[in-house]
Amino acid sequence: MKISRTVTITIDGKEYIAKEGQKLLWTALENGVYIPHLCGIEEEEKPAAGCRLCFVEIDGFLNPVTACTQKVKEGMVVRTRSKRVDKLVGTAFELLMSNHRLGCARCGANGRCELQKIAKERGLKLKTSRLRSLVPEVPVDESPDKFTYDQTRCVLCGRCVWVDHHKAKIGAIGLVRRGMSRKMATFGETAMADSSCTQCGMCVEACPVGALTFKEK
Ligand code: SF4
Ligand code: SF4
Ligand code: FES
Repeated sequence: MKISRTVTITIDGKEYIAKEGQKLLWTALENGVYIPHLCGIEEEEKPAAGCRLCFVEIDGFLNPVTACTQKVKEGMVVRTRSKRVDKLVGTAFELLMSNHRLGCARCGANGRCELQKIAKERGLKLKTSRLRSLVPEVPVDESPDKFTYDQTRCVLCGRCVWVDHHKAKIGAIGLVRRGMSRKMATFGETAMADSSCTQCGMCVEACPVGALTFKEK
C-alpha cells in the first residue's frame, strides 16, 4: 500500500496537516475549506481544469493558480480569497451563467446544485444581467427510462463523461463540437436511449448541476 508523507500547509492563515502530493482542492475540501469547483475529479492525475473556478493564490506564484492542478507541498501558503481570485472566479461564473437556463424552483438539482453553492459561498448572482443570454433552444432528452438530460443546464464540466469512460467503462457519451457549440452528447448525437448507454445512472450521480437528473418514481 502506498503511504503518502504528511506535510503542513497554511490555508487562509490556518495550519493543516495534509497528504503530500494530493491536489490542493481536495485537501482544502477535506479540511472544510470551500473552494468553488465544477470540473475537478479527484482520481484524475492530469485534470483538465476547464471550469476556471478553483483559483487560489499560493506564495511563490506570480499569478493565481487552479487548486485542482496544484500538488500539496510542505510549507505551502495558500489564500483562497484575494481581489484577483475573486475577479477571476466572478468572471468565470458570470460567463457560465450566461449560458445556463435558470429555473431553480423547477430543477431536479435544486438544493444540492453546485452552482447554487458557489453563488452562496462567494456572494455571486445566479442570474446574470450584464451579459447577453446565450442559452441554446434545445429540448430536454427524456428518452431514458431513469433520467433526463437537459443540455441547457449543462456546465460542460465533463464529470459524467469521465465516469462513463473510467468507472462504468461504457464510452456512450463525450464532449463534442467546439466553441459555443460544445456540448455533452452521445456518439452520433443521438437521443440517450438510442445510444450504447446502459442507464447505470453513474453519470447522473456525477453531475454537479441539474443537467442530468433522475426521473421521479
Ligand atoms: S442547475 Fe442549479 S442553478 Fe441551474 S436551474 Fe438547476 S438548481 Fe438552479
Ligand atoms: S451533463 Fe452534468 S456532469 Fe455532464 S458535462 Fe454537463 S454538467 Fe457536467
Ligand atoms: S475544478 Fe479546478 S478548474 Fe475546474
